[in-house]
Amino acid sequence: MKPSSYSARLNYICVTAALGGLLFGFDTAVISGAIGLVKSQFALDTAMEGWLVSCGLLGCIIGVLLTGIASDRIGRRKTILLAGIMFLVSGIGCAFASGFSMLVAARLIGGIGVGMASVVSPMYIAEFAPAASRGRMIAWYQLAITVGILLAYFSNAWLVSYSGTAFTNSTAQWFFGDEAWRPMFVMMAIPSVAFLALLLKVPESPRWLIASNQKDKARDVLEQVRSQEAAAKELDDIVLASQKAIAAPKSIFGASFRLPLIIGIVLAVLQQFSGINAIIYYGPSIFKSAGIDSSNALLFQVIIGAINLGFTIIAIKWVDKYGRKKLLAIGLSGIILSLVVCGFLFYTGKTQGIVLLIFMLMYIACFAFSLGPITWIVINEIFPTEIRVKAVSICTMALWVAVWIVGQFFPWLLENFGPAFTFWSFAVFSLINFIFSWKIVKETKGKSLEEMENVFIAPH
Ligand code: BGC
Repeated sequence: MKPSSYSARLNYICVTAALGGLLFGFDTAVISGAIGLVKSQFALDTAMEGWLVSCGLLGCIIGVLLTGIASDRIGRRKTILLAGIMFLVSGIGCAFASGFSMLVAARLIGGIGVGMASVVSPMYIAEFAPAASRGRMIAWYQLAITVGILLAYFSNAWLVSYSGTAFTNSTAQWFFGDEAWRPMFVMMAIPSVAFLALLLKVPESPRWLIASNQKDKARDVLEQVRSQEAAAKELDDIVLASQKAIAAPKSIFGASFRLPLIIGIVLAVLQQFSGINAIIYYGPSIFKSAGIDSSNALLFQVIIGAINLGFTIIAIKWVDKYGRKKLLAIGLSGIILSLVVCGFLFYTGKTQGIVLLIFMLMYIACFAFSLGPITWIVINEIFPTEIRVKAVSICTMALWVAVWIVGQFFPWLLENFGPAFTFWSFAVFSLINFIFSWKIVKETKGKSLEEMENVFIAPH
């Protein structure tokens, strides 16, 4: 095959897998626009509203667990397909829910899809990407998350503009005019169908094929995405690593995996304790409480979303050139500085001007080229194939639990201690992350997945 054909095939495979991130972003953001309408339609009290939002998270945790258990048995490809089916069922189920319980059940199913995709999409990319461009390719997944978030904002805003409109057709009246939250969810079915259709043409991961004794198939897959020479060399490396793992099986909780497991879990939790989701989702109301005219909350959401998307491209360009640690250090410095300044502005009551907006956007930009993508990159590249899915599931589970903790405590912190203290708390966690990333995280740029174990046994 010509080099252009195998790189096109590789891009097709990795972009398709990254679309799992788009559905992840869409699913988690769509609820922010739908919740108000659902709340008034079903007369939800605060507890029920909280339940509708958190059942998605519960689904994520179930999805991560299922993936940890199932993906080594059924393979990566079937697991991603299952995630795609969950997204589709959830989108349609939410849109046509006959009552609140059905809506909750359908959101739960969507959450399971998000949980599954959050483990298997970046992991599948890591198992396909050549060492020299693995960072960039996993960052596509993060880029897709940001696109999904932005698409959900636009689609919610567009649909809400039809809310209250008089339609001549009674079904259109019910669906678009009276219950505009329904089409918000059905929108998710469009990317889900595209995702499923594209997935039909992706192969199984070569690393999983070797781990399940299908060397010939693995060779065939590798030859679709590498030159013949590179495929042969990589095949030998994977087989060798697999033979070693079979000859001397190691427990995931044994000493050899302790360091990567600690790195994965700590990075996952601290990514969330930087307050990213609080700022993305409460950003517009933070501006409002700061006295900035927020008559157009959507405009702020879109600005935040667009900066988040745009700056992820920096990571795509630089993460394989300058490495994970450098980008993390620069990004985290910017994150800490902007959080400290935002806290200070609230502390001194100087929140009216443009400065607050600038520093909040600086925070998002710094997150987008560092902590956002690099957390996912590192989690998915540091473990050997024999334990990868289990270890990645543990780290991703930690991330979702941290999402939940921030969701529970952020409003409480804001109410009881005020925004200054809240921003500074996020700054302290980010400072811990800065020190941790600099001192403990190992540079993994350019190393193949099979070389990774040496990075941790003989760190440099
Ligand atoms: C995080 C999500 C966050 C998103 C924002 C991801 O890396 O894991 O929690 O919503 O970035 O872009």
